[in-house]
Amino acid sequence: MCGIVGVVGQVEAAPRLLEALRRLEYRGYDSAGIATLVNGHVERRRAEGKLVNLANVLDQDPLPGTTGIGHTRWATHGAPTTRNAHPHGTSRVSIVHNGIIENHAELRSELEGEGAEFETETDTETFARLVDHHLARGDSPEIAFSGALKRVHGAFALAAVFAGHPRKLLVARQGAPLAIGYGEGEMFVGSDALALAPLTRRIAYLDEGDWAVVGEADAQVFDAADQPVQRAVKITAFSGAAIGKGNYRHFMEKELHEHPAVIGDTLRQYVDPASRAVARPQLPFDPATLPRLWLSGCGSAFLVGQTARYWFESLARLPTDCDVASELRYRDPPLTEGGAAMFVSQSGETADNLAAMKLLRAGGQSLVSVVNVPESSMARESDATLMTVAGPEISVASTKAFTAQLSVMACLAINFARARGAIDAAEEARLTHALLEVPEHAARILDATAEIEAVAADILDARDVLFLARGSLFPIAMEGALKLKEISYIHAEGYAAGEMKHGPIALIDSKVPVIALCPSGPLFEKTASNLQEAAARGGRIIAFTDEDGAVALRRFASRVVVLPKVDPFVAPILHTIPVQMLAYYVAVLKGTDVDQPRNLAKAVTVE
Ligand code: F6R
Repeated sequence: MCGIVGVVGQVEAAPRLLEALRRLEYRGYDSAGIATLVNGHVERRRAEGKLVNLANVLDQDPLPGTTGIGHTRWATHGAPTTRNAHPHGTSRVSIVHNGIIENHAELRSELEGEGAEFETETDTETFARLVDHHLARGDSPEIAFSGALKRVHGAFALAAVFAGHPRKLLVARQGAPLAIGYGEGEMFVGSDALALAPLTRRIAYLDEGDWAVVGEADAQVFDAADQPVQRAVKITAFSGAAIGKGNYRHFMEKELHEHPAVIGDTLRQYVDPASRAVARPQLPFDPATLPRLWLSGCGSAFLVGQTARYWFESLARLPTDCDVASELRYRDPPLTEGGAAMFVSQSGETADNLAAMKLLRAGGQSLVSVVNVPESSMARESDATLMTVAGPEISVASTKAFTAQLSVMACLAINFARARGAIDAAEEARLTHALLEVPEHAARILDATAEIEAVAADILDARDVLFLARGSLFPIAMEGALKLKEISYIHAEGYAAGEMKHGPIALIDSKVPVIALCPSGPLFEKTASNLQEAAARGGRIIAFTDEDGAVALRRFASRVVVLPKVDPFVAPILHTIPVQMLAYYVAVLKGTDVDQPRNLAKAVTVE
């Protein structure tokens, strides 16, 4: 993870680097640092913890200079201390780095053997010392940097400044994103276009293996074989406006309240409200004849894939597999000729998902990404991109991107079902109608704040929480558990309700809340009887259901939250909202750092 930025500017660099880092803080917030060139020398300021600590350091000890680099860290090698904070380097070079240099241990012993004295345990310092080694023998920054690049393995993005070269940055990309921003007589670099949006919207992305010399007016880009190459400059859609919380306490609260708008905006991309048909998506395969589909994602995005699997199989009769990307990338499964794979990701930068993409590409599958960032690596690596229209998601815990992803998948399920002759036009119109009503229902659920806050107060002191559901709601139970773990640090698991008696029921006592997603529908009776089994053993049942389900559940549940009654097809989208709200209110009551929970970062660009 980590976020990196750089500027060759005309005005003081430090405040601009700090502002860009604020927009990248979602990538890591263990420590941060900035280096600039001051009278030809490299100077740096660093601080442990959140960016505000670095801002305080800079207030007390300002850093002049118009050229510089900055970093916000998610620690991989070495504890999150000031000493390990980036930039790293020597008096000759200073480097910021996102990713992992895999062969750092071997390079470190080689360099130590030659007399280098390391100051930190970081893999980044290895690269800095490699560059320094070249500089010490008189190589130019370009020769030193490109020479060092040829020695390192792993996935990373790098930016460097050099003493005596006040108008130059050297940058490289291998497996982690890096954007170059073109200003008026100034140039910028950053981990993403969002960070650079207040500075410029003219952006070029480096390709895998590229490195570049960024001056004050232009950038010379070279490929991995050191050949000069051109990379297209595009206008990014990101706005330079400050990303604010409005009147909300946290970004997560704001983003939860954006569910109705985001679902509506996403559905409008894929559904024609007049004909109530799903517009034929641009795909590199024909859904009518597709033999098999793979779905891949990490964390919440994987759970979107799991939900979609229920839809694609039961509605569209499409054989579907779904994997967590970190497993898929090493699983080497037999692939079906003519098959396709879909990769779900908010950021479009998740390292495991990108690696899984490469594996399936090598296996001859056509690739589709479902992403929220149009310029992301996954969008660029796939044959087709289906966009979610969620807008920037700042809170580390995913909320609105999740329902936007489900909305895309639901549209695809309807489209595939129709293409494969599994449903007729009337059924398509019925399902589409159910989908188009989701934003309105979502708004009603968001109005039920007080009820969900009361549930939050109920489970606040629990050490463990079980989330149960069946069918396409089972992945949503896992989403509820994941979100609760992530931001409230309460241990929670999502289980298929029918699996309870095969193990987890042993955990049940009055201290373990059992949260059930149990709307009326074909699986209601089955789920309700699993809940009764838990209640009979003293379990405290808290059920999310609809009016019809509430009657039966009130007989044994300690709390029943009534949600709008909807078609079972769209129930997973709607049930997502209360479980995410629940996690949010528990975290608020516990006083945790909701938007930036411990140990996590938003775009997981390391393996
Ligand atoms: C959970 C969460 C993570 C992400 C996961 C994938 O709240 O945010 O589990 O879903 O890290 O990230 P993307 O979607 O960017 O690939």
